Parts: sequence; structure tokens; C-alpha cells
Amino acid sequence: MIYKFYQQHIFPHLLNQVMQTPSLMDQRRELLLPIAGEVLEIGFGTGVNLPFYQNVDTLYALEPNADIYQLAIKRVHESAIHVQHVQASAEKLPFADNSIDHIVSTWTLCSIEHLDQALAELHRVLKPGGTLHLVEHVLSDRPALQHLQNLLTPVQKRLADGCHLNRNIEQDLLDAHFSFTEKHYLDAAGIPKIAQRMLFARAQKQ
Ligand SMILES: C[S@@+](CC[C@H](N)C(=O)[O-])C[C@H]1O[C@@H](n2cnc3c(N)ncnc32)[C@H](O)[C@@H]1O
Repeated sequence: MIYKFYQQHIFPHLLNQVMQTPSLMDQRRELLLPIAGEVLEIGFGTGVNLPFYQNVDTLYALEPNADIYQLAIKRVHESAIHVQHVQASAEKLPFADNSIDHIVSTWTLCSIEHLDQALAELHRVLKPGGTLHLVEHVLSDRPALQHLQNLLTPVQKRLADGCHLNRNIEQDLLDAHFSFTEKHYLDAAGIPKIAQRMLFARAQKQ
């Protein structure tokens, strides 16, 4: 019962705060400003990306967790963009094959339970020549930190709604038949070392 209270009433507010860390906001700006047209954002969270969609007209905001989406509603109302909330999981996208120009994922792939299934779905709905834009925290390149990430992931999953500290997202995307048009790694300031390494990338269907 205490855990349920934490998940419903405390975690969404913690998430909303942490996801506004200034170095993460800088990454959002760089990732999202170039995007124009129609976008599917998976794991929309509390809507922190909205101000950075400067040339987007329609946004499908896919967010399965109603308690988290609740904190996005004010931002959605204040936005000039047409935002359509889609209450579904990335593992089963309610979109047609080859129908989406741009898909955005910011710190969402860490939390999806069946990641291979979700990446297959992203691959299915993305248009040929369309782009998946992402920034995600990933497995460290330092063995000592990797060990710690593996050790702490079960705890992190309980505390942070399914978040894995130890995913090799680059490899997962290659395995799902994406190829990169842009890719670099960075250590984000103001984030604990255990989740500091970020993959910033744009990818297309192979
Ligand atoms: C760490 S939060 C990031 C939120 C937001 N993308 C941001 O940048 O602030 C992870 C988000 O992924 C969502 N999520 C978890 N499992 C998911 C799934 N299977 N499909 C889609 N979204 C999922 C969570 O509800 C949460 O909103």
C-alpha cells in the first residue's frame, strides 16, 4: 500500500523535478529544435519537451501512466501545438505501418519492460526515411560502473518505475535494424555517475 502511494503520488513529482535538470534541458533543446511536422513521442512523461517543439504541428503524446500524464496536462493546455494523448504502451503502438515521420524518445527506452518488442513497433510505424530521435542514459563504458549498474538495476526498477541503469541502447537499436545518422555519447552534468552516460542519436530504418 505504501509502495502504491509512492508510485501514484510521490514518484511522478520526483520525475517531473529530476527530468528538468539543466543539462538534460540542454539535450532536449538540441535534439528537438530541428524537428518539424508530425511527431510521435513515446513516454511523454510530464510534457517537459513541449517548449522545444518549435516547428511541430501535431504531437501524439504516448504515455501509458495516467498518474504521470496528470502532471503534463497544464503544459499541454499552455502549448500552441495540437497534442493528442495516446494512452498506450510502446510495445503495442496504435499506428499503421510506415505512417510516422518522426519518433522521439527522451529517457524512455530505459523504462520499457519489453524493449525488443517496443523497438520492433517503432521500426514498424516509422516511415522509410523517417527518423527516430533519442537521448537516453545507458550502460557505462567503465567496467567498475557497469558492475554497479548491474547490481543496482533491480533496486532502481522498484524506485523509478521500471528504469534500467544498464541498457546498451546503441546495440539494442542495431539489433532492431536501425542505423544511425547521428550518434554521440556525453556525461550529463548534475546527474549521479551511475546514470550519467548519455547516448544522443538520430536513427533510421535500415
Ligand atoms: C524517465 S521517464 C521520462 C519521461 C519523459 N520522456 C521525459 O523526457 O521527461 C520514462 C517514461 O516512460 C514511460 N514508460 C514506461 N514504460 C513505457 C512503455 N512500455 N511504453 C511507453 N512509455 C513507457 C513512463 O511512464 C515515463 O513517463
